[in-house]
Amino acid sequence: MLTPEQNDLLHKVGPGTPMGRLMRRYWHPVAAVGELDDNPVKAVRLMGEDLVLFKDVSGEYGLLERHCPHRRADLSYGWVEEDGGLRCSYHGWLFDTEGRCIGQPYEQIAHPEANFKDKVRATAYHVQAKAGLLWAYIGEGPVPELWDWDRYHDRGYKQVVFSEIPCNWLQCQENSIDPVHFEWLHSNQSLRMKGSGEFSPTHTRVGFEEFEFGIRYLRIRADTNEEDDLWKVGRVCLWPNALYTGHFEWRVPIDDEHTLSVGWFIDPIPGEQPFEQERIPYWYSPIVDKETGRWISSHIMNQDFIAWVGQGSVSDRWNEHLGESDRGVIMLRKQFTDDLAVIEDGGDPKGVLRDASRNDRMPLPRIRAGIGQFAPTTYPPRFPFLVDQPEAVVTEYHTLWAEFGGALGP
Ligand code: FES
Ligand SMILES: [Fe+2]
Repeated sequence: MLTPEQNDLLHKVGPGTPMGRLMRRYWHPVAAVGELDDNPVKAVRLMGEDLVLFKDVSGEYGLLERHCPHRRADLSYGWVEEDGGLRCSYHGWLFDTEGRCIGQPYEQIAHPEANFKDKVRATAYHVQAKAGLLWAYIGEGPVPELWDWDRYHDRGYKQVVFSEIPCNWLQCQENSIDPVHFEWLHSNQSLRMKGSGEFSPTHTRVGFEEFEFGIRYLRIRADTNEEDDLWKVGRVCLWPNALYTGHFEWRVPIDDEHTLSVGWFIDPIPGEQPFEQERIPYWYSPIVDKETGRWISSHIMNQDFIAWVGQGSVSDRWNEHLGESDRGVIMLRKQFTDDLAVIEDGGDPKGVLRDASRNDRMPLPRIRAGIGQFAPTTYPPRFPFLVDQPEAVVTEYHTLWAEFGGALGP
């Protein structure tokens, strides 16, 4: 249980807040590479800041404050120009990826000698492409390494899925360190949805082990023991705002009451032949059932979303009753609280990587069989995580599956 003041301290990430300073010490995924290939300008909102992301004609990415330094028009309605830069649609001022003003059409005619453009600059932030995603860093310098996890390089069919969740990011991330929910929110709920009165194997023990980039959570269920990878390896609550189980789920704060769920998935490609994916597809998954107006519950992450939004737009943690299953949640809150003091003293918080020589295919703990609980029952395996996978993605994967000699059935 937290007091309302402690709750405010931990969940608010707007500019100038303590937790906002802490979360700005990390890279956050904000878009897919493919999105900017399809449309080179995108409005982004990150931790309460309105930004514009763009790809110029040379292929360089820029991330600027959303409002034009001239008279504050919305730069996400601008366009990229053939000879470089992002053009504001209001009076045509032009900005490069560093935020420099490189064109002011009327000012240059009226007062060419004044070089007014050299006196104007849009605030620019850092952006990098990795694993089919575009990552933003909007914090203080020096800029840390953008983690290069080994999983990004594995052979398989990758895809990126976004959903916008109308609640605070912290309650989403607390779900990344919560082993017992799996039994109820996913396994037993799915059994009930199929009309079964059975119960899935119950948890008999849970454990939490800290490591450099997060906390592993471990479990023993009625059908497993200490020799099982569920206990020896476990799953990863990845710092500061992700879950890693073989796929990644980031909970990116849009603002204090909205979170961008970013899922990065990799499906098996059969056989051993080399496979290179030319383009990682991306799609947006809905969360509301249009017919009933209720949240969608048919897919695994949708079930998680229901738990998160059900806690309110911001969870009132002073009304909680934490038990033994919540030890990981308590560890997570303590780590964030401790790191607020660490950055106050000029240190780096948990999970920040500075050593570039280490940042090459860094391993994360993973149960090698993949996602265990979701052993495929149909071939090619269906996508169980989020609703409304586009037909084009299904077809592309199924075609590759067949081309590479995968089994079909049942
Ligand atoms: S407001 Fe952008 S050019 Fe005038
Ligand atoms: Fe879950």
